[in-house]
Amino acid sequence: MVNKVKVNLKLNGERFSAEIDPRMLLCDFIRDVAGLTGTHIGCMTGNCGACTVLMNGRTVKSCTILAAQANGSDITTIEGLSKGLELNPIQRAFHKRYAVQCGYCTPGMIITAHYLLSLGKTLSRQEIREHISGNLCRCTGYQNIIDAIEELLRDKGLLR
Ligand code: FES
Ligand code: FES
Repeated sequence: MVNKVKVNLKLNGERFSAEIDPRMLLCDFIRDVAGLTGTHIGCMTGNCGACTVLMNGRTVKSCTILAAQANGSDITTIEGLSKGLELNPIQRAFHKRYAVQCGYCTPGMIITAHYLLSLGKTLSRQEIREHISGNLCRCTGYQNIIDAIEELLRDKGLLR
């Protein structure tokens, strides 16, 4: 019998706490305990990026850390980026540019794009490619995803 640990964190702006197995991964905590299934699980080895969330404003692959390590932190998942059914500007750009096929990579990709835009840096198309290289997409060939992010940066005057 494993002793439970209490995890207390901020999840999409709301306080959330639960007693869990100390070996539970953050991705399982988000999906199975908090019920936020927008965060996907692909490889469970830190390679695909499907499980990417923001932890204290920075991207983290949630299959690579324990939920207990996220105690006290501020976590944002894809559900936290939009207001209910209203899409946020990144989701709208992905929709407009056909940057989605099966959609499995999309929540992680959008979280990464959100982080990239939050940096406020001027970037080239090649630099966008490098920034999203931790998020794998098996369907789109990346071109439309990069087009969508490029358009968002252009709108902010941040495209090199
Ligand atoms: S499921 Fe976490 S990186 Fe693939
Ligand atoms: S849209 Fe299918 S994996 Fe990216």
